[in-house]
Amino acid sequence: MYFKKMIGEKCYLSPIDISDAEKFTEWLNDLEVTVNLQLYNTAINVESEKSFLDNISKEHNYSIIDRETDELIGNCGFMGVDHLNQTAEVGIFIGNKNYWNKGYGTEALSLLLDYGFKALNLHNILLRVYDYNKRAIKIYEKIGFKIIGERREALYRNLKKHNIIYMDILSEEYYENNQ
Ligand SMILES: CC(C)(COP(=O)(O)OP(=O)(O)OC[C@H]1O[C@@H](n2cnc3c(N)ncnc32)[C@H](O)[C@@H]1OP(=O)(O)O)[C@@H](O)C(=O)NCCC(=O)NCCS
Repeated sequence: MYFKKMIGEKCYLSPIDISDAEKFTEWLNDLEVTVNLQLYNTAINVESEKSFLDNISKEHNYSIIDRETDELIGNCGFMGVDHLNQTAEVGIFIGNKNYWNKGYGTEALSLLLDYGFKALNLHNILLRVYDYNKRAIKIYEKIGFKIIGERREALYRNLKKHNIIYMDILSEEYYENNQ
């Protein structure tokens, strides 16, 4: 069951429904999706996904739901929230590939950031992205993230070494860029 917590034009963010573990497991076994994620080389089954979802659903992680069809399309959330320093790291994935390149990722991440700045009082939000993930880099730049550095050849994947790009955004930069 989904609940409309942060609502956009195309999608809304809902608390995670653990009974979606099977759908998430299907996506997290799709190498085309996970090549962009840390868990590319992790074995995931429904049981392990259930306990993972159970853990992350207690933190600031949300399911991305298509507004028109109420269909689950992905997940986004904050990790390592540090309230003293008002920092966190953000992550997102859209598992249903039919929804790629249709503006859902940009909107879902914007909804989450707005919530992070206004409700969680975050000030600086960090993300990590692999250098070959041009689509993701594009949406992060569109939203206002800036590249702050690259960890060189720190990802060894598909017989090649890749850089990991670090990007961050401050609350005032987000609102300068997104009204
Ligand atoms: C990355 C992801 C969240 C983006 O969400 P999305 O809904 O597909 O993205 P959007 O449609 O909002 O925006 C994509 C933008 O990238 C552009 N784009 C697509 N492919 C591109 C490419 N190869 N090079 C450069 N730009 C590209 C699109 O044109 C669009 O920009 P525009 O709106 O200015 O035209 C989603 O594709 C996804 O979950 N991918 C798999 C997992 C992943 O990569 N997660 C992020 C890990 S850091």
